[in-house]
Amino acid sequence: MNFRTLLAPVAILLSFSTLALAQGGTILYKFMSQMQDLEMAFMDVAPTTSEEATGKVAVCLHGKNFCGPTWEATARALAAEGYRVILPDQVGFCKSTKPTSYQYTLQQLSYNTYNLLQALGIGNVTVIGHSLGGMTGIRYGLMYPESIDEMVLVNPLGLEDWKALGVPYRSIEALYTSESASNYTSVRAYEQSTYYVGQWDDSYDVWVNMLVDIYEGSEAATFAFDMALTTDMALSGPVVYEFGLLRPRTLLVIGDRDNTALGKQWSPPEVQVRLGHYDVLGKRAAAAMPDATLIEFPDLGRMYSSVILLLAGREREVITDSFFQ
Ligand SMILES: *[C@@H]1O[C@H](CO)[C@@H](O)[C@H](O)[C@H]1NC(C)=O
Ligand SMILES: *[C@@H]1O[C@H](CO)[C@@H](O)[C@H](O)[C@H]1NC(C)=O
Repeated sequence: MNFRTLLAPVAILLSFSTLALAQGGTILYKFMSQMQDLEMAFMDVAPTTSEEATGKVAVCLHGKNFCGPTWEATARALAAEGYRVILPDQVGFCKSTKPTSYQYTLQQLSYNTYNLLQALGIGNVTVIGHSLGGMTGIRYGLMYPESIDEMVLVNPLGLEDWKALGVPYRSIEALYTSESASNYTSVRAYEQSTYYVGQWDDSYDVWVNMLVDIYEGSEAATFAFDMALTTDMALSGPVVYEFGLLRPRTLLVIGDRDNTALGKQWSPPEVQVRLGHYDVLGKRAAAAMPDATLIEFPDLGRMYSSVILLLAGREREVITDSFFQ
């Protein structure tokens, strides 16, 4: 955690937003949004390189079934490369406020994240997003291109418009009912089949349990409702039609065997077969974006474990050589 960098913005912005320390190295960004007092929890990881700090900052956007701390290993690798790394929990998720009512849009989540970075006095950033966080990253890139050094999208959602492909509308009540029924078995079954090519490794359990603790915790009902709203948000707010407008230099990292598609579970079989073909979607997205580089992993699924490996393992060379120089 980097206290020094926090002092100045705290003083300047006290009047309309504040930053406060919470337990476990988490910091709370307190702000007003949609007529409510909200908190966004985040971690602020300082560069660990012994060389002069590079001045580079990365912000990592978590997916729907994950939290800021899921990026821990990636953050550590980035810190060793000289990055300061900001790991926010979006509103509705993890340690941030679970509003009883909120108009979720990708624009709102991007705006909240941008304002958090402004409150920290941060200028340009590298935006890194996974899954729903990747879809948010695309919206962020469309809204704030002038503040972005580069973007990395790891199996982002939103490479297709599910409703246009035939996914039926599902009411928020119905989404809430299935969210409320989430438990270890259901979350694991979903992740195993869609993210991990049917395989399971015990190391994935930590992320399932993190999520199940919230689904079964003291804020269970509001969390399930917020998760229903965020599913509706992603289904209603496609980004795919705007790829041609995405100005930042973008690295698209795709595990081809992922098959995640929102609404697939409640779609008829003839719609299901059309959805979630990442081996096609990655190439199509990269071709549509003005400045994208595609790296595909034919044998990998949703790649959370690979996200963690991104800068620390086999992929590190690829990524640092082609992108982070
Ligand atoms: C910030 O990013 C923009 C867009 O990528 C770039 O034009 C600008 O030079 C960057 N500013 C700094 C200070 O690096
Ligand atoms: C978990 O949820 C599934 C589906 O919602 C349900 O069938 C199962 O009984 C639940 N298991 C436990 C242990 O509660």
